[in-house]
Amino acid sequence: MQPAPGKLTFSKQQIDAALDQLAAEIMHDFPAQKDLHIIITLQGSLFFAADLLRRLDRPLTYDLVRASSYIGRMSSGAVLLDGLEHIDITGRQVVVVDDILDTGLTLSVLLQELYMRHPLSLRLCVLIRKTGNIKVPITADYVGFTMDKEFLVGYGLDHNGQYRNLPEIYTYDPLTK
Ligand code: IMP
Ligand code: MG
Repeated sequence: MQPAPGKLTFSKQQIDAALDQLAAEIMHDFPAQKDLHIIITLQGSLFFAADLLRRLDRPLTYDLVRASSYIGRMSSGAVLLDGLEHIDITGRQVVVVDDILDTGLTLSVLLQELYMRHPLSLRLCVLIRKTGNIKVPITADYVGFTMDKEFLVGYGLDHNGQYRNLPEIYTYDPLTK
């Protein structure tokens, strides 16, 4: 068994309730007859997006983009994007699905790249909005949880690649390691 990496912060029940709410909001804004294309950021959003998209009971398409800026618990400031070259969103209604909006650096770069491709609309859905480290103010249209600046792992979120497969979300505590 994998030892808990710190304090349990969002349980399976809390995650499920947040996903139900996010799915209801997106379904409300995008009725079934409206076009909907989802852009999922890897690697952290894997489980979140898989669980959210299966709650969106309507036609949709999606693409995956790999975005990274973190080394350990610090944002490196340099944003790497991979996978955008194949994406055609011109005239489409797009919702970006990302795990955490923290400093805003990653999403500011990604959203700018997507705007340059002339979508009809571009919205942002994040599982977690952290408010304690903001560098670029970005507004998310759909937010699962809001918190200050604790470093989280589990449910796709990692510390140096570890803990992503934990089904619940923990505050990472290096002292328990
Ligand atoms: P930003 O560019 O600082 O907004 O970074 C956002 C990205 O950093 C998120 O999409 C995550 O992939 C990663 N990240 C930010 N905070 C955490 C955390 O607490 N745990 C794991 N990854 C995080
Ligand atoms: Mg991310």
